[in-house]
Amino acid sequence: MTELAGLKRTHHCGALGPEQAGQPVVVMGWVQRRRDHGGLIFIDLRDRSGLIQVVFSPDFGGEAFSLAGEVRGEYVLAIEGDLRIRPEGTENPNLPTGEVEVVARSLYILNQARTPPFYIEDDLNVDENLRLRYRYLDLRRPEMQQAMIMRHRAAKSVRDFLDARGFLEIETPMLTRSTPEGARDYLVPSRLNPGMFYALPQSPQLFKQILMVAGLERYFQIVRCFRDEDLRADRQPEFTQVDMEMSFVDVDDVLSLTEEMIARLCQDTIGLAVPRPFSRLTYREAMDRFGTDKPDTRFGMELKDISDLAAGCGFKVFTSAVAGGGQVKGINAAGCGSFSRKEIDELTAYAAVYRAKGLAYFIVAEEGVKSPVAKFFTPEELAAVQERLAARPGDLLLFVADEPQVVADALGALRLHLAERLQLAADTGFNFLWVVDFPLLEYDREEGRYAAMHHPFTAPRAEDLPLLESRPGEVRARAYDLVLNGVEIGGGSIRIHRREVQEKMFAAIGLKPEEAGEKFGFMLEAFEYGAPPHGGIAFGFDRLLMLLARKKTIRDVMAFPKTQSAADLMCRAPGPVDPKQLRELHVKLTAAR
Ligand code: AMO
Ligand code: AMP
Repeated sequence: MTELAGLKRTHHCGALGPEQAGQPVVVMGWVQRRRDHGGLIFIDLRDRSGLIQVVFSPDFGGEAFSLAGEVRGEYVLAIEGDLRIRPEGTENPNLPTGEVEVVARSLYILNQARTPPFYIEDDLNVDENLRLRYRYLDLRRPEMQQAMIMRHRAAKSVRDFLDARGFLEIETPMLTRSTPEGARDYLVPSRLNPGMFYALPQSPQLFKQILMVAGLERYFQIVRCFRDEDLRADRQPEFTQVDMEMSFVDVDDVLSLTEEMIARLCQDTIGLAVPRPFSRLTYREAMDRFGTDKPDTRFGMELKDISDLAAGCGFKVFTSAVAGGGQVKGINAAGCGSFSRKEIDELTAYAAVYRAKGLAYFIVAEEGVKSPVAKFFTPEELAAVQERLAARPGDLLLFVADEPQVVADALGALRLHLAERLQLAADTGFNFLWVVDFPLLEYDREEGRYAAMHHPFTAPRAEDLPLLESRPGEVRARAYDLVLNGVEIGGGSIRIHRREVQEKMFAAIGLKPEEAGEKFGFMLEAFEYGAPPHGGIAFGFDRLLMLLARKKTIRDVMAFPKTQSAADLMCRAPGPVDPKQLRELHVKLTAAR
């Protein structure tokens, strides 16, 4: 084993090419693979930039040759030698450096390595938990290194862009009070204040607004946020936001600046030119046409309302839904008319997960509609329904009759399910889409009250403000979400900046004045000292990168993500703590481990 002892790396492995042929080089890195060919030993050496083949022969360096025989995978080496064009016929067109090789004069084994639990390569087929347990090995894989490089570039792109437009990067506290974004807080007990807790921020929302009151005018931060929610492929308990806030702006100012930033980021990371302006849908239209507020618009199969046609038909399920204030809507699974009974049953079961009580279907054939419920419709009604859904022979029409939310959820989900199955959206680019004009409030049936749809600091549209007390459900917000290929990657709003409006908003969500004062008194007070009109947005940085890198989960663009059960398998967090620590924190455990 050798120390570096003054040896300096001259080149990165992946940067070597015919231009350097004939030059002396020193390369350092990890052993990808060693191959012995009797009188010759080949080592593929890997560093962050790529691979280079190194050849050892007693003719070039006897000591190096015999030492090379001891080398195993993932050993850390320094190699001194000369770069040469590979002998004719031995080039490797699959390797960027495949035209050249290093002829080794000296070999220094800088460190040994145990046999890794998986081979360091892309297209790995091992349990993800093993990758997470040995994350330092997983991160050696080129695709993970690319993801980290891309992440760095994206962050730099954002910083450069916002810096050039007068934004200041300002840090906000991690030990703070609860900021409501709709998830549970992670709490930190205070040693110095017995019985008191800090909350880790779900977002810097309150602080960034306070920074606007403070006259900083344009703020941004690439910031860690913490939310104790159930985890999914695109959700982590701690994740990163690109968080922004600006003063003296309106909705369009925020949207156009954001579009420019996102377009620049796409260019800087994956060389993608994104057309601007992004299209916009109102919340209402998104729900009506796609059944969701984050529609994937890379394919059609839109929801069509047939309530008017269904109202007078002979099918009781349809008529009673409409009579009861509900809807009947359908989608056209084009070309799926050949689905078997079993396949349709599976779709029905899928819709049932979203509370659909059934799934009526029409199989459209040359000779007419085939359906167990066709008999309840007149030929004219059948024709009208087919026309509304632009049906052609060979199509499968699927209908749900229910209250609007169930219809939207079930058909919206079915639409995505079918698109996945039929590969309708595979590799068809990046569809950025704004969803605007969200309702300010949504009714929470469990709680029996209204709740803020974004967060309670979102401003209502001025013309809707008078409805806040009388018809709260109808008030539209000055809020917007950015959706990419069916994933919500960002959201924000113009904020309330007047105390009396903020108080009305708190009242509308059932927050008593004392409670509001206790939780957000500092903010209400700040509003009395000259709060400018302001607004902003925050992006899910991990989510955006996941999509741009075409990964299935955000874990693949994070260096040290957590598992579904919010555990870090490498350092084994969360873990037990010493009873002494708990005593100092004034915490008594009630749950046995
Ligand atoms: P919001 O709650 O919509 O808005 O969060 C902004 C964006 O953050 C991403 N995101 C997540 N990413 C990974 N894991 C999670 N658990 C997670 N939760 C959210 C989403 C989301 O669009 N303060 C407001 C922004 C504002 O109003 O300016 C906020 O936090 O992509
Ligand atoms: P039923 O009358 O319950 O036997 O249902 C007849 C057909 O209508 C079946 O194909 C059901 O899946 C379908 N169906 C039942 N309820 C609904 C509903 N709420 N929406 C759409 N189709 C339904």
